[in-house]
Amino acid sequence: MDPRLLDALVKHGALADPAAMDFLSKASDPVAALDRVFSTLQDVPLVLTMDHIRVTEMPLVPESIQRAHLIARRAAEVLAPAAPKLRELGIARDVPEDFRVLRDITGMSTCEGTLGDFSRYFAHRLKALGGMLRTRRELVGAVEIARARKLSREVRFIGMVSEVRTTKRGDRVIEVEDDTDTAPVFVAQSSDLFKDYVLEDEVVGVVGRPTEKGLIIAQQIIRPDVPAHHPFPVTEDPVCVAFVSDVHVGSRTFLTDKWAHFSTWLGGGDELARSIRYLVLAGDVVDGIGVYPRQEEELSIDDVYAQYEELARLLSAVPDHVRVIVLPGNHDAVRPAEPQPALPENVQKLFDSSVSFVGNPCTFTLHGVRILAYHGRSMDDFVYSMPGMSYARPLDGMREMLRRRHLAPIYGGKTPIAPEAEDHLVIGEVPDVLVTGHVHAVGMDEYKGVKIINASTWQAQTAFQKMHNIIPQPARVPVLNLGTGRGIIREF
Ligand SMILES: [Fe+2]
Repeated sequence: MDPRLLDALVKHGALADPAAMDFLSKASDPVAALDRVFSTLQDVPLVLTMDHIRVTEMPLVPESIQRAHLIARRAAEVLAPAAPKLRELGIARDVPEDFRVLRDITGMSTCEGTLGDFSRYFAHRLKALGGMLRTRRELVGAVEIARARKLSREVRFIGMVSEVRTTKRGDRVIEVEDDTDTAPVFVAQSSDLFKDYVLEDEVVGVVGRPTEKGLIIAQQIIRPDVPAHHPFPVTEDPVCVAFVSDVHVGSRTFLTDKWAHFSTWLGGGDELARSIRYLVLAGDVVDGIGVYPRQEEELSIDDVYAQYEELARLLSAVPDHVRVIVLPGNHDAVRPAEPQPALPENVQKLFDSSVSFVGNPCTFTLHGVRILAYHGRSMDDFVYSMPGMSYARPLDGMREMLRRRHLAPIYGGKTPIAPEAEDHLVIGEVPDVLVTGHVHAVGMDEYKGVKIINASTWQAQTAFQKMHNIIPQPARVPVLNLGTGRGIIREF
């Protein structure tokens, strides 16, 4: 193997598969051949393959094959996000901080759990999501449900799903309600709509035909969704944000060595490490105490305050120029009902000033890039309630959140929800990035232009996961370039 070729690959921040290495080594000047390939490629791939090389050798390849390779290359990039170009990466230390919190329950909670609070909460959910649906072309002319039930022609209306039931024949009836009435919407098993599962408490638009028996036969079920292509904002600061989650400090299965490896890399690693200006911790930062039965048997630190002290010690090794943003999860020492406020003062004071504490969920901007961070507890409800959902594929659940413009549509499931005056779990303005954790998997993709990122864990398989056959993907760190919107996942 030509060592100059390896050096050149490192310089470009890429790897090469064995076939590409073999091909390049046979060139009269391997380094010049590699430089030629990279100068032609639009983006630096994570792993250079023969497909990339063939595309760059256009004159030798018929046009139809060139096109096929280009298509294959683009498809591969969608599946595996390309590495950020090194020359596009800024030096985080030199870039001033630009972090603004836009929406956070911390200090704003007003609910006392009264009946009035609940009706006000659901009224806000219906109003907010109904307003989005009203702008949809398919729902122009939507009427109140009381009026729709009196009509015999095609009807359009908007409401919240109060019940989903299956008939003896296996068809589905969805009860949809607004302030005026309730309508039973019928979805036949044979209909294409049947595969698109409707969840209780989500807000939908319905286009349908009434029957004489008072049912509405669904023709379309419309979600608020995000626009067809949400553009990533153009920013001038090509610094990166790294996303981690579910550190679970205090657990016997906390991966001390892998965290140490990550921390060392952050402190003195490669160009990518030096470009990291922000580090987001998406909840379950400690293991907590009394979260589940007999948890004490799985703890290495059995005092929650001491767990946060240990986390503070671990985070003190993060370089000072990295702003750390911490939100709580269901293992943390705040109320479990969502939206959760930031960790309390007596915990915050253990950390140095480069650590900021926000609620769960929280919308904030980094250099103008709008980030919606949510721990992801509702993934339990998606997996439990929707056929086809899996803990191993959290991005599927995140797409469903964006389609419904709601982080936790099901009320009364596994996600406890506090009835605040406004529904903080509604996805109001479309974020540029949606990040979650909780399921201990990892993933990075986009949905209609919105970057979706599930941050991984620093905990090995727990007894609970073993029982449910859940295999975690720990110590993988998605890193997003705020300047380009491109991302990469680093494994430690
Ligand atoms: Fe969690």
